[in-house]
Amino acid sequence: MTDASATVSDVAVSTARSAPKAATAVGWAVATKGAVPRQLGLSRAALEANGFEGNPGQVLAVPNGDGVAVAIGVGEPGAIDAAGLRSAAAAFARAASKHAQLATNLADVEGVEAKVAAQAVTEGVLLASYRYTGLKNDAKNASRLVALTLVAGPKTEKDVDKGAQRGQTIASAAAFARELANTPPTHLNATDIAAKAVEIGAEAGLQVEVFNKNQLEQMGCGGIIGVNRGSTEPPRMVKLTWSPKSPTGHLALVGKGIMYDSGGISLKPSDNFHQNMKMDMSGAAAVLATMSVLKELKVKTKVTAWLMCTDNMPSGSALKLGDVLTMRNGKTVEIHNTDAEGRLVLADGLSLAVEEAPDAIVDIATLTGAALVALGESIAPVLGTSQALVDQLIERSAATDEPLWQLPLDSKRYRKLLDSVVADMKNIGGPYGGSITASIFLSEFVGDIPWAHIDMAGPMMVGADDGIYAKGATGFGTRLLIDLASNFSPPL
Ligand code: BES
Ligand code: MN
Ligand code: ZN
Repeated sequence: MTDASATVSDVAVSTARSAPKAATAVGWAVATKGAVPRQLGLSRAALEANGFEGNPGQVLAVPNGDGVAVAIGVGEPGAIDAAGLRSAAAAFARAASKHAQLATNLADVEGVEAKVAAQAVTEGVLLASYRYTGLKNDAKNASRLVALTLVAGPKTEKDVDKGAQRGQTIASAAAFARELANTPPTHLNATDIAAKAVEIGAEAGLQVEVFNKNQLEQMGCGGIIGVNRGSTEPPRMVKLTWSPKSPTGHLALVGKGIMYDSGGISLKPSDNFHQNMKMDMSGAAAVLATMSVLKELKVKTKVTAWLMCTDNMPSGSALKLGDVLTMRNGKTVEIHNTDAEGRLVLADGLSLAVEEAPDAIVDIATLTGAALVALGESIAPVLGTSQALVDQLIERSAATDEPLWQLPLDSKRYRKLLDSVVADMKNIGGPYGGSITASIFLSEFVGDIPWAHIDMAGPMMVGADDGIYAKGATGFGTRLLIDLASNFSPPL
């Protein structure tokens, strides 16, 4: 696997008091009122005559010589927030996509703290420029971005520089998660992602343990072993640990790593919708990408992570309907649909996380098509046993603009939908409320530890370029989990 995410970390991001000569595309923030930056060389009347009013995210590219000056709308003076800046920066990057050296004063805008603004702008430019080109012979679609300069005033320069560095680290992580999810399933199997984790762990100051099929069997991880039964590729569970000195808390992360989800015996149809099941490891990708930058960001929280990696395939040895699996925590599950496999691998991961008694567990998974039905492609359901933890996630999701919406974990009403005649539970509920019943299933494996679950089936990918996203995998959840780990406070 080639690493286009490296291009994001290779971009030279810097801060300066003015736009460097070499920057052929320079973006200037323009509000709906007030002065227009003189460097644009245009009056407000001229901008308006071309349909540019300064609304958030609006851009107008004005050619000058070999380069381009770009007016970037930031809305009412002082009204823009970090999410708006990230989107505006993405719009600028798209308008300037033919250029290698970019500069902008967007991080020096009224109303957002300089460090936060610079982080958002850097993320916006870098993530909008990401392209998956690892398997293309023709590189004409590859990102041309080589350098980004954030233009800042004397007072903000230092903070802008700090924010820009943080933004680049975080954007590189999100791009890495995209890269993993965009990679075809045979180019990235469970063994490959585990090897990748070992490689990254060494650089990122993590302890990495890889568990193979025999070890998982011996550990009683009946969920991941069961799902793997139909596959010729062996499973891998990866445990990653970030142990800072005198940690301020302990967060556990669990990621669904279905490297390819065919549905198993409950085979999926070969339609467009299922074309994307190479991305069914997007949860594990977000977790691995998060872990990869904790050292660089000097995160004070201890973080332990489990990646639950296997294919879900049909074959003569595959899991059958009616089979009963015994999970790591001893609970038994009757299989009613082999396509509800994510919850089976997560059951083992959550059980193992509980054994370490962390302050909280968060899992992230492309778990249910029902999440798409409930909240669409842009918003991910969040459910959990701890309202304080769910609230913390929702707060972080607002800061990172990776939207979550809480659904009720109403076990009192819906747990009975999982009742099985022969085992402790079935692996599916009824035809409705699929994201809720899947979460109730997961809640059987979290004991008394505060827990929350993010179902990223909707936002795992976009069908067309959109803001910071390039057609394909989004890396959703990476920035959110990094932000959570950076600001984590143990829920009471
Ligand atoms: N990986 C899928 C869910 C999914 C669907 C993710 C679309 C992203 C986009 C999951 O394993 C699955 O197949 N879920 C089933 C569960 C059902 C059998 C209870 C579903 O949602 O149809
Ligand atoms: Mn499935
Ligand atoms: Zn799946």
